[in-house]
Amino acid sequence: MLRTATCGELRADHVGQTVTLCGWADKYRDHGGVVFIDLRDRYGITQIAFRMEESSETQKLASGIRHEDVIQITGEIVSRGDENKNPKLSTGDVELRASELKILNKSKTPPFEPRGESLANEELRLQYRFIDLRRNALQEMMVLRHKMTQSVRNYFDELGFLDIETPIMGRSSPEGARDYLVPSRVHEGTFYALPQSPQLFKQILMVAGYDRYYQIARCFRDEDLRADRQPEFTQIDIEMSFVEQEDILSTIDGLLKRMVKDIRGENLPTPLPRYTHADVMERYGTDKPDLRFGMELIDISDLVEASGFGVFKNTVGNGGKVRGLCVKGGAEKYSRRILDNDLKNLVGEYGAKGLAYFKVANGGLDSSIAKFFNEDEQAAIVERMGGEDGDLLVYVADSYDVSCASLAALRNHIAKDMELYDPKELSCAWVVEFPLVTRNEEEDRWDAEHHPFCAVHPDDAEYFESDPSKIRALSYDLVCNGYEAASGSIRIHDPETQQKIFDLLNIDPEEAELRFGFLLQALRYGAPPHGGIALGLDRWVMMFAASDNIRDVIAFPKTQKASDLMMGAPSIVDDRQLRDLSIKIDIPE
Ligand code: AMO
Ligand code: AMP
Repeated sequence: MLRTATCGELRADHVGQTVTLCGWADKYRDHGGVVFIDLRDRYGITQIAFRMEESSETQKLASGIRHEDVIQITGEIVSRGDENKNPKLSTGDVELRASELKILNKSKTPPFEPRGESLANEELRLQYRFIDLRRNALQEMMVLRHKMTQSVRNYFDELGFLDIETPIMGRSSPEGARDYLVPSRVHEGTFYALPQSPQLFKQILMVAGYDRYYQIARCFRDEDLRADRQPEFTQIDIEMSFVEQEDILSTIDGLLKRMVKDIRGENLPTPLPRYTHADVMERYGTDKPDLRFGMELIDISDLVEASGFGVFKNTVGNGGKVRGLCVKGGAEKYSRRILDNDLKNLVGEYGAKGLAYFKVANGGLDSSIAKFFNEDEQAAIVERMGGEDGDLLVYVADSYDVSCASLAALRNHIAKDMELYDPKELSCAWVVEFPLVTRNEEEDRWDAEHHPFCAVHPDDAEYFESDPSKIRALSYDLVCNGYEAASGSIRIHDPETQQKIFDLLNIDPEEAELRFGFLLQALRYGAPPHGGIALGLDRWVMMFAASDNIRDVIAFPKTQKASDLMMGAPSIVDDRQLRDLSIKIDIPE
């Protein structure tokens, strides 16, 4: 070993010992007679002092040290004395009085410093990810991620789950996003698809008798990226045989309890709360509500259908809804200018044609449209909303779906803006009874809400003919802090039901046979009842770290445009490689 200790471990009781440390020069200060260097490794920072009385060779070397040089130092640990202690550093009671110094490697002047309080721009940081990853915040993130996967592995191992790897090169599976393709050289003109998830393989494993499977699995989806999405991400993927929905939910409750205990040392009360899909849509307008705060959506359609305000009256008359939020103490914070511009534009992005608002004053409504509501209507609205003087009431009048989407976004926006929650808190709940299918009006067909392998709620089989939108699936999501943090279902395990779903989804038998014939085949050879779930590992790390940027929890993430700026991927390839694959590039003008 080139070192005898790390930069994070030296304390007052080490005083008098001689140690050797290695690390990066984080900071240097030349105080005439003394050169101070803050030496950094991933365990911490130790102050090194080079004093005049040391050999002048060392002194000379020391004064040449610059940011990010890699150095090795041997010396005696001395107390800094009460007046020079640094309480902000865990090693702040001591410093290393250097007697030997070796420069292991000089660094070019770095484009930014990893200790910087102000962050360099993200593009530069991604390009020089090896420097960015030296940052304490990112190192803590990597440690957290490691602890989490460790906790997951221990939990499942103790429950007798097997970690089984599934292929990365497979064929396209119907998960909904676009596939990443890999051309085959041997089979000219054909392609492998990278897995969007191990879904079909894990079901096949159940048929094969591996009744408890888990995998920390890489998944690939070519979709539009957002702050919580990466083209390449990681799932904690689980499948179990001879189980019902309840067994999966309680297994995952246990996993979360374990993760919270292992990582935060706290007790997460379980079972986690459960809501039906219909319930969360009504109360929060989204299937992934942030439950760290209340401010639920409230329907006032019945109170305003006869009012003098045309927008409200006509909306209700046409079968739409008038729903809104009561922002406690929001009257002062939100000026007309903000309401008529920023907030109106925000709901507009979700299709809302406007945003109506009132301030609650003297038990009634105050705003330019308050005059359209009589005293009784005003009082009834204030009461329904739970409004008090000083509150702000905001409304969207539109179809149910638009009011859901726009108010859900507004609710999140206002809660963040008004700091209605502690960003470190974890608030998790199950959403169950998702619809099996949703209507795709554009293409005049039914689409699977989750994927085509979800079992149907036993009470809903009758709706296949009458109204498929009413069929509930035995599927469930785990939501946490407004993220979809996990998703799964009980699967169909007999080929007839599977065929019925394909029929409903308008996937013709030939196409089904072609795309996932192997699954249908397996279902014909003794498939046990089974179900499973997948957790988005990256999102869980984000939530535990209270970060809202998925790139911060991945060592080598891709940009919003799916590029790796450090290695320069994707890239063009040699003509020869293309010729081997019989591929010609033809980019339209
Ligand atoms: P689903 O597609 O819902 O289900 O994915 C499961 C979980 O993975 C996470 N996730 C993502 N995280 C980061 N970037 C992405 N692009 C991304 N896409 C999804 C989410 C999500 O809840 N095979 C099924 C699971 C099952 O039925 O067992 C599946 O993949 O947290
Ligand atoms: P208007 O009568 O169109 O001038 O609108 C009066 C107020 O009602 C404005 O504050 C609009 O933003 C608001 N408004 C208009 N349409 C809607 C709607 N569909 N839902 C909620 N508020 C609306």
